[in-house]
Amino acid sequence: MALEGVMRPGHAQVRVLELDKAVEFYRDVMGLVETGRDAQGRVYFKCWDERDHNSFIIREAESAGIDFMAFRVRDEATLDDFKAKLEAAGIATEVVPAGDLLETGRRVRFTIPSGHLLELYATKTAIGNGMTQHNPPPWNAQSEKGIAPVRFDHALLYGPDIAAVKKIFIEILGFYLVERVLGPDGESEIAIWLSCGQKVHDIAFVENPEPGKLHHCSFLLESWEKVMRAADIMAMNDVPVDIGPTRHGITRGGTIYAWDPSGNRFETFQGGYLPYPDYETLTWDFEGFANGGLDYAQRKLHDTFLSVYT
Ligand SMILES: [Fe+2]
Repeated sequence: MALEGVMRPGHAQVRVLELDKAVEFYRDVMGLVETGRDAQGRVYFKCWDERDHNSFIIREAESAGIDFMAFRVRDEATLDDFKAKLEAAGIATEVVPAGDLLETGRRVRFTIPSGHLLELYATKTAIGNGMTQHNPPPWNAQSEKGIAPVRFDHALLYGPDIAAVKKIFIEILGFYLVERVLGPDGESEIAIWLSCGQKVHDIAFVENPEPGKLHHCSFLLESWEKVMRAADIMAMNDVPVDIGPTRHGITRGGTIYAWDPSGNRFETFQGGYLPYPDYETLTWDFEGFANGGLDYAQRKLHDTFLSVYT
C-alpha cells in the first residue's frame, strides 16, 4: 500500500450566522448531502461521491470562520504514532473522544502556529456514495442536485508563522511543498501549498498577522463544464461571487471563489496537475503571483484575496 500516514482531508467544521439559511444554501445550492444533526445542533454534510459519513459540518455562532480541519490517517496505530511524534516535537495534543462528532472515532487535536485547530483521526463510518459496491453506475440523482461537488478537497487558511506550520506538515505529518509564493522581499514564503498524496494541494496557508482565519473551503468538481454550471447556479441563486470563473496559475485549477450566506468564502474548482513528492517545488515571486498566479486569465491581484477572510 503506497498511501500511508495522512491519507486525505477528512472534515472541516465551519461557523455560520444563521443555521437555517446555511443549511438551505449548502443542501440546495451547493448540493451537499445532509447526513445528520447532533445534540449540539451541528449539521453534518458530505459530498455526493464521498463514502464517509461526513466531511463538512456547520454550527451556528456569533461569528463566521472555521473551528477546525481534520485529516484522515491510515489506521489507529498510525494515529498513535502521529500523536507521539507531535508531542515529541513539543506540540500539545488533546484527544477528543469517539462519538463527539457523529460516526467519527477519536480525534487527536492540536493547535498549529498559525492559530488553527487541526485534527487527525483514523475512523469514520462509511455510508457509501448512494451507489452499489458491486457493478456500480457512474453517478446517481445526488450528482445532479445543485452544484454537487464530488468531495471536500482542501482549505486555504490565513495566519501567522507559516514557516513553522510548514515544518510541522513536512517533518511530522509527511506532506510536501508543491508550490509557494515569495513576498516582495524575494525570500520569505508568504503562501504555501502542501500535499499529502498526489493532489496539487490538500491544505494551503497564507501568512497573515491575524491567527486562525479561513480564506476558503474548497469543493471539487469533475470538469470545467461543471464549474460553468456552478457559476450559473450561483447567479440563479444570487450567490455573491468573488473571483471567476477563471484559472489559477498556481495549481492550474479552474475556479470560482464565492461567499456563503454567512460570508465564509468557498471555492468550487476542477483540475490541477498531479504532482509527486520528488517534484521540485514551483515558486512564484510576488509579481508573478499578482500577474497570473492568482487569476491567470485576468492577470490581477484581486483586492479581496488578501483582505477578506473569516
Ligand atoms: Fe483553493
